[in-house]
Amino acid sequence: MTHGSAITDPLPEVASATLLFGGSMMSPIANPWPTYARLRAERPAMAFDSPMGKAWLLSRYDDVMRAARDSETFSSRGNARGAGLVMGRTILEMEGREHLRQRKLITPAFGPKALREEVVPAIIRIIDELVDGFERDRGGDLVQQFTFTYPLRIIAEVIGVPINDFAEFHHWALALVGIAEDPAKAFEAAQKISDYLHPLLDQRRKDPRQDLLSKLLHAEVDGERLSDDEVLAFLRLLLPAGAETTYRLTGSVLHALLTHPAVLEDVRGDTSRLAPAVEETLRWESPVQYVSRETTRAVEIGGSEIPAGELIMVALGSANRDESRFPEPNLFILDRPNVADHIAFGFGEHFCPGSQLARLETQLAVKRLLERLPNLRFAPGEKSTVVGMALRSPDHLPVLWD
Ligand code: HEM
Repeated sequence: MTHGSAITDPLPEVASATLLFGGSMMSPIANPWPTYARLRAERPAMAFDSPMGKAWLLSRYDDVMRAARDSETFSSRGNARGAGLVMGRTILEMEGREHLRQRKLITPAFGPKALREEVVPAIIRIIDELVDGFERDRGGDLVQQFTFTYPLRIIAEVIGVPINDFAEFHHWALALVGIAEDPAKAFEAAQKISDYLHPLLDQRRKDPRQDLLSKLLHAEVDGERLSDDEVLAFLRLLLPAGAETTYRLTGSVLHALLTHPAVLEDVRGDTSRLAPAVEETLRWESPVQYVSRETTRAVEIGGSEIPAGELIMVALGSANRDESRFPEPNLFILDRPNVADHIAFGFGEHFCPGSQLARLETQLAVKRLLERLPNLRFAPGEKSTVVGMALRSPDHLPVLWD
């Protein structure tokens, strides 16, 4: 830490948070919650050295909401410094008219009508194809066998990208979002994804189909079309945005149910209870723990003066465990009255356009798994742990079924 007084700081958790963030945003950290609780209480805006340079971490719900609501002061252009480096110029870093134009292009593909009519049948088919492959084993790791590739298959189908090797494609997607960890690998992955997608663009331009790729190539907003580079940047974002996040949510919901047997019984008896279980998981173990912003002017937060031009890590995961908003925040409570206040999908102009798809995919997958894998339970002596700093989910789900 280069600013403030962290090295001699009497708060050991703050110092360890600094090491942790300075070390890696992708670290397999299991329990960041005591650190966040301490930061919310004592250092709500903490300066630290991130892999992307000097940054500030906002950990309180109210400050996170302030950053999300005030896009003029907390600009999204900061996203160009992280994943934007490898993905190209994406919607995440756009603002104003340019941002609106791209939102108009994608929103219809993920709206309720398209989901109901086009996507749900594909989701159900994909779930059953996957479960057919391992149902007879009576046991296994649901991360490896199911959650890891499941959402990638769906987003690939929605976009219209025929992927033959999902495991390889997923590793590219992981490398892209892991740019802070291994930039060379991320750039290599970006190139591989472009090489893979480029021929498809030419093909769909000549021969459009009913998929998102054709719609993106042919759609006109305000009389303009997207260039090839814009479409490629979009797909490089959409594939990991749609896959990397939802696989984590599906795993974390299964983890929440398996570690809370009473809730699991509740959901087994009445699958309409799955929707609140998914919402509480989004709050309790938010798959995306941070979004980044850049200050356009000096601001004061929690007693700290943050200059203009600083990188801000907006800690959605910490906000979702803020005790001033969510009493007993570390407990998984199925009918938490204000669970809808969670901000796992962000807030404001950049609110996740795939939130309904993510909820639907997760609910349908867990429902079908519970139906097809009776008496789903941990294997004897086994358990799962949710890990990660920037993105969180269980690494393994070692289970048995009858
Ligand atoms: C559990 C699953 C998901 C979580 C937790 C999640 C979370 C988020 C968050 C927090 C943001 C806001 C980023 C910011 O403010 O800088 C976001 C934006 C975005 N998400 Fe998701 N997401 C999920 C699933 C999906 C899916 C399935 C799609 C695919 C359609 C998707 C596509 C996007 C896109 C394109 C953006 C950028 C929107 C913009 O900048 O205007 N996400 N997501």
